[in-house]
Amino acid sequence: MEYRLEGLPPLQELDPDGRELLFKGGRTVYAFDGRPVPVETLQSIWELARWGPTSANSQPLRVVFVSSPEGRQRLADTVNRGNRGKVLSAGATALLATDDRFHEHMPTVMPLRPDFRELWEEDVETRSEIGRLSAALQAGYLILAVRAHGLAAGPFSGFDPDEITAEFMPDTGWRAFMGINIGYPASEAALPRLPRMDVDDVVRWA
Ligand SMILES: Cc1cc2nc3c(=O)[nH]c(=O)nc-3n(C[C@H](O)[C@H](O)[C@H](O)COP(=O)(O)O)c2cc1C
Repeated sequence: MEYRLEGLPPLQELDPDGRELLFKGGRTVYAFDGRPVPVETLQSIWELARWGPTSANSQPLRVVFVSSPEGRQRLADTVNRGNRGKVLSAGATALLATDDRFHEHMPTVMPLRPDFRELWEEDVETRSEIGRLSAALQAGYLILAVRAHGLAAGPFSGFDPDEITAEFMPDTGWRAFMGINIGYPASEAALPRLPRMDVDDVVRWA
C-alpha cells in the first residue's frame, strides 16, 4: 500500500487560559464532591483522547469506565485502602489497561505495515515494550482530555493489577495498570503543589 502526504489546516496556538487549564493549573485531585459524570461526557473524553499519537498507530490502551454505583463500590473495595475515599467521591473512574494482543489490529490501524501483526506475534519482547510505552502515552492524553472537559483527574496506581484485571476485565487479555478518578473537586481537593524538577537538571541541549 502506498501513502501520499497531504496538507494540513493552519496551525494555531492554544491561548494562555487553555495552557493553564491543561498543565500549570491542572492538579491531581484527591477528593471529589460526589457529583456523577454523565456517560456522554465520558464518551466525549475518550473521543478526544483517542487521537493522540502512538507507536505505529498501535493504540494498545483499553479503558473500563466505572460509573455505576454498584461498580464504584466494587472498585472502592478492590483498590488499596489509601485510594478508597478518592474512588468513592469521584463521579467516575477510568480503569486503564494494556491489551497484550493489540497487534492483531495492526492491519486495520496501520495498513501500511500489516506485517506488524505477524512480526509482533513472534517478537513478544518488542510487542510488550511498544504496548507499555504507547499505553502510558495514551494515559497521559486521557488526563489532558479530562481537563479539557472542565473536569478534574486523579491518576492512581495503588491497587493490585491482578485483582483489578480479574474483577473488571476478565476474559479480555487486557491488564490493568492505572486508574484515573474523574469528577468535580471537593472544596479541599489537592495536596500543596509539589515542586517540579529544575529545567537545568532535566533538560540538555544538543
Ligand atoms: C501513574 C500515577 C500513579 C499514581 N498513583 C497514585 C496513588 O496510587 N495514590 C495517590 O494518592 N496518588 C497517586 N498519584 C498521584 C501523584 O502523586 C500526583 O499526580 C503527583 O504528585 C502530581 O500532583 P499534582 O498534579 O497536584 O502536581 C499517581 C499519579 C500517577 C501519574
